[in-house]
Amino acid sequence: MSSSDALLAELEPTAAQLLDRHLSTTKEWFPHELVPWSMGQDFAADYAWSPDDAPLADEVRSALFVNLLTEDNLPYYFRTIERVFGGDTAWGTWARRWTAEEGRHAIVIRDYLTVTRAIDPVELERARMAQVSCGEVPEPETPLDGFAYVALQELATRISHHNTGKLLEDKAGYEVMKKVASDENRHYLFYRDLLTAALEVDPSGAVMAIERQVRTFEMPGTGIMDFEVHAKAIAKAGIYDFGIHHDQILVPVVLRHWGIEALEGLTPEADQARAALVKRIGRIGKAGRRFAARRDEIRDAELATV
Ligand SMILES: [Fe+2]
Ligand SMILES: [Fe+2]
Repeated sequence: MSSSDALLAELEPTAAQLLDRHLSTTKEWFPHELVPWSMGQDFAADYAWSPDDAPLADEVRSALFVNLLTEDNLPYYFRTIERVFGGDTAWGTWARRWTAEEGRHAIVIRDYLTVTRAIDPVELERARMAQVSCGEVPEPETPLDGFAYVALQELATRISHHNTGKLLEDKAGYEVMKKVASDENRHYLFYRDLLTAALEVDPSGAVMAIERQVRTFEMPGTGIMDFEVHAKAIAKAGIYDFGIHHDQILVPVVLRHWGIEALEGLTPEADQARAALVKRIGRIGKAGRRFAARRDEIRDAELATV
């Protein structure tokens, strides 16, 4: 048995427990109940979208575009998740359930965007085809890397959906994004607590995996057309940026919840990785503060010229 298989076997009862918790705290919901269908109309044969169809700040449009394409692509992570965690026992049940839930997120956001015409439906569909066809999926080296990446990613996605929803002026849009964000929170809790259990079984391996994943972290939207442009707009709007990544993910989860600074008995290699990780978190925090200060300056300057 490989060390990864042994770890997965040891953590399987925890995964089963966390899956039960997930299912018992999830209330069934339906995309069609959240979508404001009365706003919808047929699209004329010569329809060409214009931003006037749904006045919205460019940054918010960017966020909706990225958030939806991310959700469109997530079910295709299934292959990797099944390969890394295995398709049997609680691991397989979890992976299939998670995939079904991510699919529902794409359904509700797309239906909402289609009826409200918030995004050019032609551009969106072309981008979905491109995104899913390119098959860009994270490939974590080990199960521990997988847990660490997905814990960070689910929380990042939750924050991003929720902050996007807060910037939408209509209540229906806010409710759609809030509902999706609450699912992401449960996904995050599953992986966070799985990693907490892994830290007990293999603290050195887990710390090294967290260090690798924080160092190489990318939002799951990587691979989306013009992702960099949209990511900048999203940061400008304060929906997701370095400051949020530091203050709402790295500090509360990595430092506080997983308590990596207080772990004892690490191998010298893991100890080194921990030191590098703590230093990196500090640097990300500094970059976040610099970025926020600069953004405030630009905003003040823009307001002064109005
Ligand atoms: Fe999702
Ligand atoms: Fe999720």
